[in-house]
Amino acid sequence: MARDIKIAPSILAADFSRLGEEIRAIEAAGGDWLHLDVMDGHFVPNISFGPPIIESLRPLTRKTFDVHLMIAPADPYLEAFAKAGADGITVHAEAGPHLDRSLQMIRALGKRAGVAINPATPESVIQYELDRLDLILVMTVNPGFGGQAFIPAMIEKVRRVKAMIGERPIDLEVDGGVGPHNCGALVEAGANVLVAGSAIFKGGAVEAYRMEIEAMCDQARQGLLQRR
Ligand code: DX5
Ligand code: ZN
Repeated sequence: MARDIKIAPSILAADFSRLGEEIRAIEAAGGDWLHLDVMDGHFVPNISFGPPIIESLRPLTRKTFDVHLMIAPADPYLEAFAKAGADGITVHAEAGPHLDRSLQMIRALGKRAGVAINPATPESVIQYELDRLDLILVMTVNPGFGGQAFIPAMIEKVRRVKAMIGERPIDLEVDGGVGPHNCGALVEAGANVLVAGSAIFKGGAVEAYRMEIEAMCDQARQGLLQRR
């Protein structure tokens, strides 16, 4: 099943001093989801924001809040992110020994459950979790920072994960170094949710955001046509 293509701007690359305006600009520019990168300075070597910021943004838009937790441990904080307004919560497979428990907790909170896997992590870690998953995030950079170079070997990983998903209703997301130059190949390999931070926000204003999102959609459509 080819899931709908979604563009998910990552606000990590937004102007944090004007976050509310940036959210509205992304909405006006045609972004589908908002990707919210939570970093703890422990699982990844950077610190971003937590539930209070997400809660403050929630009244501004009805867009899906796609919360990417780069924190370890994650379980003690899942409820706080659910209450803050997450629609989907993604934990890293590498962040703790009990992925199955984390995924059960997310669904018990009424949220969509996602797992992220780092570039060096084999896709086999999710083999027995497929029926607990609503989203799989294949990291295409090492998590922690925006603006890093895409790792080309991840295209093959996306293809393998897509084959594992089969007909299940699971979104396949890519994150890191994604933009118009590679999203066609990623969609061709099976991705349907495209996270982009610096590619979208580099223009600094709504018209530039719209052009970049449209360029990504065009490339994604080409990729869909080429899917085998
Ligand atoms: C990286 C984050 C990404 C980041 C992507 O750790 O998970 O979501 O914001 O930024 P770009 O698109 O600039 O690589
Ligand atoms: Zn992310």
